[in-house]
Amino acid sequence: MQNNKKKLPPVLLFIFGGSGDLNYRKLTPALYNLFLDNSMPAKFSIVGIARSAYTDDAYRQHLKEGIDNFSRKKDEDGWKKFSDHINYIQMDIADDKAYGQIPVLAKQKEQEFGEHPTLIFYMAVAPQLVPVIIKNLGSIQVCTDVKHSRIVVEKPFGHDLESAKEMNKLLSNIFEEEQIYRIDHYLGKETVQNILALRFANALFEPMWNKNYIDHVQITSAETVGVEGRGGYYENSGALRDMVQNHILQLLCMIGMEAPISFDADEVRNKKVDVLNAIHKIPKEEVQNFAVRGQYSSGWMHGEKVAGYREEKDVKPGSTTETFAAIKFYIDNWRWQGVPFYVRTGKHLHEKTTVLTIQFKPAPHFSFPAEAAETWRPNRLSISIQPEMDICLRFQAKRPGQDMVLTPVDMVFNYKDAYDGYEPEAYETLLYDVMEGDATLFMRADQVEAAWKVVMPIIEVWEQRKPVGFPNYSPDSWGPEDAEALIARDEHNWIVPPQKKQGEKST
Ligand code: BG6
Repeated sequence: MQNNKKKLPPVLLFIFGGSGDLNYRKLTPALYNLFLDNSMPAKFSIVGIARSAYTDDAYRQHLKEGIDNFSRKKDEDGWKKFSDHINYIQMDIADDKAYGQIPVLAKQKEQEFGEHPTLIFYMAVAPQLVPVIIKNLGSIQVCTDVKHSRIVVEKPFGHDLESAKEMNKLLSNIFEEEQIYRIDHYLGKETVQNILALRFANALFEPMWNKNYIDHVQITSAETVGVEGRGGYYENSGALRDMVQNHILQLLCMIGMEAPISFDADEVRNKKVDVLNAIHKIPKEEVQNFAVRGQYSSGWMHGEKVAGYREEKDVKPGSTTETFAAIKFYIDNWRWQGVPFYVRTGKHLHEKTTVLTIQFKPAPHFSFPAEAAETWRPNRLSISIQPEMDICLRFQAKRPGQDMVLTPVDMVFNYKDAYDGYEPEAYETLLYDVMEGDATLFMRADQVEAAWKVVMPIIEVWEQRKPVGFPNYSPDSWGPEDAEALIARDEHNWIVPPQKKQGEKST
């Protein structure tokens, strides 16, 4: 976690998939912003690797477009200085012999830097290409120095439990666990990291953070976009694999975990894995009572006509892939016994929002006259991850006047107001941490596998029983009706806090 900004040791970063979208939109802009913030190592070199033909200059020009479109900061002079650190290698990653260039370059950089750089290999490629790269990195023996070589692996990490185990095994043939950085970019978001600060740097919340005071928890991660040309990938994924197995379960862990003894990477990850292991495994015959899936139809999205999922590029006309999932989880431990965690995620929903809501139980005794309570609402803590970045505590207040009338009001902490708009992108934090060698915000092998175990019964049942009635929700809605029924059965409803600024009235 980028805290006290130590100057980092020299780094040589190889980006496999150097001409791809992830590098263009996220990685290079993040590295560039770190550079502008004076957070890159004094000595560093970035090497893009891909099959397309580019000269170094043409490659830099290509990345510059990405900066112009996606960077948080812009500075022509800064780009000039930064881009001098970038080179390109055109290479077919299936060609074993081509890998010989890597140790040669590493030696050359060592001489140039006057010290041995940490070698980082970033897998910004399609998951099916990762094994061949790992195998070849193993053959050229560049990762044997455990303290000075690392690999970064993007999601999806496996397609199911078995394939995730295979991938872990393959990685462990070449790398020690401490060299492996499995990215879940949600963990790099400022607002997600702040959940730990909220919970464990304040004495206020912890005594109430349990089944005695909390009625239920909700996690909504809604997107307004559809699959955006990624139909080929999404067809083999779906909302459950794409969002729930990773991002959403990680958010759930942040809410559910016990206090770590320290911020040591393994200690934090141990506490999270405990939550995953404690999540009640939904029996297959019960899946329909705990999980709902949906797929968007064609329709209108904020006034614009959009195609249905089945009409998207690279999607089968009769596809049964879900673009929406809602699930009820329970955590079987002393803290959370009986407290439902409702989660939902989907594409082409009404609003882009990721918000975690902790709903508290009612006051144990209500001493006010019944009329005072007509507008009474339970206490609620809402943690907005994005695009709003705030924490809002709702409680009751007496409305001014002669009568005792209780109304809900909000106490809001807003990031932008409190910190002058300083918001590093998730990838900035994560790339800094990889260079520093801090794995706290990355997924350990056992965490990934434990997360797969949680979703496997749902995956298996959904694969066996094809959905009837797809598509079952319209764009610009909040998903299928069954998702409303899932939560309504427990006499709750999905909460989307109104987007508001401090001082505005609560509804
Ligand atoms: C990615 C998923 O991991 O997260 C995408 O593959 C999804 O489908 C994206 O759109 C959401 O990320 P964010 O940061 O925009 O919430």
